[in-house]
Amino acid sequence: MRIYECADYRAMSRQAANIISAEVISKPDCVLGLATGSSPVGAYEQLVEWYKKGDVSFKETRTVNLDEYRGLAPDHEQSYRYFMQKNLFDHIDINPENTNVPNGLAEDVDAECARYDRVIEELGGIDLQLLGMGHNGHIGFNEPADSFPLGTHVVNLTESTIDANKRFFASEADVPRQALTMGIRSIVLARRVLVVVSGRDKADIVRRAFLGPVTPQVPASILQLHPDVTLVGDRDALSELMRGGAAL
Ligand code: F6R
Repeated sequence: MRIYECADYRAMSRQAANIISAEVISKPDCVLGLATGSSPVGAYEQLVEWYKKGDVSFKETRTVNLDEYRGLAPDHEQSYRYFMQKNLFDHIDINPENTNVPNGLAEDVDAECARYDRVIEELGGIDLQLLGMGHNGHIGFNEPADSFPLGTHVVNLTESTIDANKRFFASEADVPRQALTMGIRSIVLARRVLVVVSGRDKADIVRRAFLGPVTPQVPASILQLHPDVTLVGDRDALSELMRGGAAL
């Protein structure tokens, strides 16, 4: 695993954007696995800036997002499709047809999950998967469980995830209780994985994910088995991984 310890969120975002743009420049039709949440926003901003300067083009790039809330329409302001449009897709030259987000409104969710797995397979898998990490170690919305969920599936969000995400909604009651998420298989089969983490509140889970046992109770711990993981974090988020002395 490569680790980049950055001074702050801005430096972390720039480093992550560097890695993503290097992938797009060296393989213009690459498949990027994308994440939402606060961790990647700065990297998306940086990519938009470089696109506007003419330094990188996404004309041929294909994308698959990790997840979507169940029950939210694509134009709902808290949907992940809306997030991606607002933070990245609307500002770059990507072909909308080349962007994929699970359909949160699908009536037959099992069919939608199967379709999403087929989409990823037909794209030839993911070249670079960008991940944030939840406080409980979730990646995508793969929450702590007794086993690693393999394919795209519907998940009941945990109280800790609902609590962490309520800041984006008018009230906690408005946070959807379910989501569709890519499974662990598509994530670990990605050729490269890029994890972005920031803030002191992530320090403990970062240490447990990368130094603790590999267990579905900490879904991100599976990344220890991946051959090409890059972790980019600010000093606060990496503080326990790099310097923590306590036992796991
Ligand atoms: C988002 C996603 C989640 C987030 C995680 C961290 O698409 O899949 O796993 O990456 O909840 O969220 P932030 O970055 O807001 O701390």
